[in-house]
Amino acid sequence: MTSPLAQEDQQARAQALLVQLSVAEKLSLLDGDTPFWWGMASIALGDASHHRPWPAGALPRLGLKGLQFVDGPRGVVLRGGATTFPVPIARGASWNPELEEKIGEAMAREARSFGADWLAAVCVNLLRHPGWGRAQESYGEDPLHVGLLGAALTRGIERHAIACVKHYALNSIDSSRFLVDVQAEARVLHELYLPQFRACVEAGAGTVMSAYNRVNGRWCSESPELLTRILKERWGFQGLVVSDFIFGVRDGVAALLAGLDLEMPFRMILQGCLPRALAEGQLPMARVEDAVRRQLLLQLRIPAGSYPAELRRCRAHLELAREAARQSIVLLRNGPAPDGRPLLPLRQLSSLAVIGHLADQPNLGDRGSSDTRPPPGAVVTPLEGLRQARPDLPIHHASGQDPAAAMALAARCDAAVLVLGLDWRLEGEHIHPGDIAPILEQIPPPDGLLHSPAWPAAALSWRRFGRLVAWITSHASSREGGDFAAGDRTDLALPAAQVSLIRRVAAANPRTVVVLMGGGAILTADWDQLVPALLLLWYPGEQGGHALAEVLFGRVSPSGRLPFTLPRHGGQLPPFEPRAERVRYDLWHGYRRLQRSGEGAAYPFGFGLSYCRWSLTEASGTIGRGAGGQQGPVQLSVLLGNGGEMEAAEVVQVYLEPPGLLMERPRRSLVAFQRVSLGAGEQRGLEFTIPLRRLACFDPSRDAFVLEGGPHRFVLARHADDSGPVVVLQLEACVLGP
Ligand code: BGC
Repeated sequence: MTSPLAQEDQQARAQALLVQLSVAEKLSLLDGDTPFWWGMASIALGDASHHRPWPAGALPRLGLKGLQFVDGPRGVVLRGGATTFPVPIARGASWNPELEEKIGEAMAREARSFGADWLAAVCVNLLRHPGWGRAQESYGEDPLHVGLLGAALTRGIERHAIACVKHYALNSIDSSRFLVDVQAEARVLHELYLPQFRACVEAGAGTVMSAYNRVNGRWCSESPELLTRILKERWGFQGLVVSDFIFGVRDGVAALLAGLDLEMPFRMILQGCLPRALAEGQLPMARVEDAVRRQLLLQLRIPAGSYPAELRRCRAHLELAREAARQSIVLLRNGPAPDGRPLLPLRQLSSLAVIGHLADQPNLGDRGSSDTRPPPGAVVTPLEGLRQARPDLPIHHASGQDPAAAMALAARCDAAVLVLGLDWRLEGEHIHPGDIAPILEQIPPPDGLLHSPAWPAAALSWRRFGRLVAWITSHASSREGGDFAAGDRTDLALPAAQVSLIRRVAAANPRTVVVLMGGGAILTADWDQLVPALLLLWYPGEQGGHALAEVLFGRVSPSGRLPFTLPRHGGQLPPFEPRAERVRYDLWHGYRRLQRSGEGAAYPFGFGLSYCRWSLTEASGTIGRGAGGQQGPVQLSVLLGNGGEMEAAEVVQVYLEPPGLLMERPRRSLVAFQRVSLGAGEQRGLEFTIPLRRLACFDPSRDAFVLEGGPHRFVLARHADDSGPVVVLQLEACVLGP
């Protein structure tokens, strides 16, 4: 982040530039630099987002180079050899903000090597329902966990570029994202759906992308409440609010007045309506200048530096991708093999069957805006990773298309590894052409667009335009052809053919491991008892095959922990209607929901097995005191012990059980966590400093966070349902502020 002195200097330079701009130049800084039709055509015909960054704000007369936007939740999406990291939900399973910060730096350095300096990699929408098509782009279901990881990625990116945090706010349905109105009370917003964005803003994010959907009746890009009152005034955000792409702005004047600063990626809605609104006094020049000043400041703060092409997929970045994959693998079951010992790690093998269509092909995630383009041969598949790790071991592969052949192979090998799950055909960001018609029924043709000189209204009606966009986007994501569903999933079961393959292979070989790939939840309760071992590999990035081999062969103990609750059945989840036009979000999803109803999860939030036994003992705590004697942060300590025979990592989680006297509160909420690596037999004392705000609830009548008075129970645990040691502290009631 920039020092206060440098900030003052930048303010002065931005002001000096601003006064030199004509009105037309000021307006030209409010949208992407790509002309509308050129932009549309290059998406339709040229796979544009993967070839070059989207420019905005260049003004050669004043030497302003502008900003160069590129997507990147799992790596820079441009062709030309960027590293593909595990998807964010996998990195969420690592519970490792330090690693996430390094990934942010690596992505930003690679982005700079392409000439891009504005990276839309920080997706912190909460995973309210784990069937959301873009689950893979989020870190999980808990606001503190998502916020700490998002803030870490932001810090890393901001060392070399500008971070874009998205999608503000409450964007967690794919199919109806252009339409849906999400209703949420102030408490739900401030306790659950906004803190992650605030954490990224506090970490120095330069830009925030407004979401497509509505919140409490207002489109996000036109919501004064979200953009100005909360983001800019309450949180003090000094950066730029940018629209999501193409359908992100409807009423340009309303958007500017609400606090939007830049429309992306084309010159589209704003240019058609702002000049008149300015001339007629509906839009004050001061608001335009504020938006321009924010952008000039960003342009001035992009750090200089040398970013050669050799940075892409350099050894250090590939090792980082491998480390992230390694730390993300979640072991859910490790039951006994016939010899009575846990099946994993796999030992004493003289042959191994690897079965499944996902074993020998790159499976990096969806085909939406976060799709990366690794060079041919870059991706280490599960099969390749296993073969490279054990060249001495005969490893045979069957796709599983022919179940009888797969059974026969499993029967004649010492153990079987089934690699199954989801891919881009079954989940992900996507526009179904059929979904676009109802959207266009609901969204009025934007005035600005139809009156813009860019728009040949006679030739292209609003509806036809929508159909064109639908065709382009769905065509772009189905470039390999074929029928596929993508988008959101309401049925979280594995496809029936895969379940049947599990049954048959497990019957043929009792030493069967199921490895699941995917970004959202997959129900396992119907079949997981059939196999001794089950683990989640997610979409593990281009080095994932190596990481899987390290875990299966026991070179590394699994240390990923679930970033969302895996339910026993879909009925345990909140209602989810991908085509809903209106939904209400409350406080109850994930572990908060199940703990409220008293039902158990199949695998709770934060859960994951290890090859080592862990102990948590000697917990204690105190309440800190500030200079004036007022309550400060809570300090907890606990002793973690690794009782295993190898070095391994554990994630120690602290859950608050609040008094809940003022209002109904979740029975438990995550308030801190630490990922710790310990050698065999090692013990270490851990300290946690927990700011009071994390313990507070939002009181709408005061419009502020308040701390309840009374006994606060802190559970030191290894997952959300764990009964670890408890520390009880008596806190005094107080108001903590907005
Ligand atoms: C997505 C954003 C993405 C943008 C640019 C939108 O459709 O929602 O996440 O950054 O496209 O590709």
